[in-house]
Amino acid sequence: MTVGRDVAQALISAHGSPLYVYEAAVLRARARRLRRSIGRDGVRWFFAAKANGNREILKVLREEGWGVDAVSIGEVLAARTAGFTPAEITYNGNNVTDDELRAVAAEGVHISVDGLPQLRRVAALGLAPTVGLRLNPDVGAGHHHHVITGGPDAKFGAAPEELDEALSIARDAGIVIDGLQQHIGSGILDTDPWLAAVDVMLRHAERLPDLAFVDFGGGFGVPYRPEEHPFDVDAFGAAVTPRLDAFEKRVGRAIEWRFEPGRYPVCESGTLLVTVTAVKRTSRHLFVGVDSGMNHLIRPALYDAWHPIFNLSRPDAPTSVVRVAGQICESGDLLAVDRELPTPQEGDILAIGNAGAYGFAMASTYNLRPRPAEVMIDDDGATRVIRRRETIADLLG
Ligand SMILES: Cc1ncc(COP(=O)(O)O)c(C=O)c1O
Repeated sequence: MTVGRDVAQALISAHGSPLYVYEAAVLRARARRLRRSIGRDGVRWFFAAKANGNREILKVLREEGWGVDAVSIGEVLAARTAGFTPAEITYNGNNVTDDELRAVAAEGVHISVDGLPQLRRVAALGLAPTVGLRLNPDVGAGHHHHVITGGPDAKFGAAPEELDEALSIARDAGIVIDGLQQHIGSGILDTDPWLAAVDVMLRHAERLPDLAFVDFGGGFGVPYRPEEHPFDVDAFGAAVTPRLDAFEKRVGRAIEWRFEPGRYPVCESGTLLVTVTAVKRTSRHLFVGVDSGMNHLIRPALYDAWHPIFNLSRPDAPTSVVRVAGQICESGDLLAVDRELPTPQEGDILAIGNAGAYGFAMASTYNLRPRPAEVMIDDDGATRVIRRRETIADLLG
């Protein structure tokens, strides 16, 4: 995180607090790093817009040569209005309605169905000549059990044993299953589970007579805690490339290889700036109350996630162990639990790092509190509002 005290103060003076701030340079650097990790043709990177659906973020990634992976019609339309063509968008939604499937197909966006029931519905509705199929490869990984999306407890995808039935449903309906998709989980920092999932997926992919693409999903982790190591994208690329080469040699043709990371490109580009509104000592804790909370960044409450926090206003003050609490009427509304920080005082600005992914995207209006504005710091250092601050009038509308 490079948003320093002066920039933070100026941004809050101009746009108010709390405030989401994104750095385009960081976003571009992470996006390029991933793209460079696999140095072969036929690889496409789709940004999972669920991590951050802001159109201006999507536009930067479009400039970096990425597509968009959408899980809802809303995300499809966000990508379309950000300038992506239908062919630059993938869609896979689970438990979605016929209306949503119709709307996605009407946009001309390719659908990967989540399992046999959705495949039957797409067939009955006559929506698409080709579909992908999401597979649950029975391999799961992730930073918290809520984000493990493969394996026996996950609601996603079709089981590998259902592949033959899927092919026969599709054949009867005159649909071609042209690709397999998977996503085993989120926040994966080790390459091993990832590679294991690649191997499983490639084994199943060989069973598809009309295979045009394989989509390995997202899940590339970023370190949040100082002791965590980064995901080794280069080692991953070096290990994956020969597997893809060997597969193409075996089947005798080129395949399109897709990845759909969300967190990796955007996470470290985003910071949530908040202002201290109260400092209160109880019999057990020193609570530092801020003008934000789980309504703007739910990850600590939902996943016990640890986000770096900096006291930008007094970095050199003597430290205390504090609980950073939000404004929401829930005891679980804590952004940090027992964290050593330069002791904050009312009015201090705190910066919460790694907030670019699943931050604003998961924000809510719980307690009827509006969501913050979002600001982009462009490559040349200029700043612009990329989403205006919500107002109470918006919520009462
Ligand atoms: C289908 C799918 N693709 C991609 C992603 C992005 O995951 P990540 O942000 O961990 O890269 C997710 C996240 O849950 C997902 O469900």
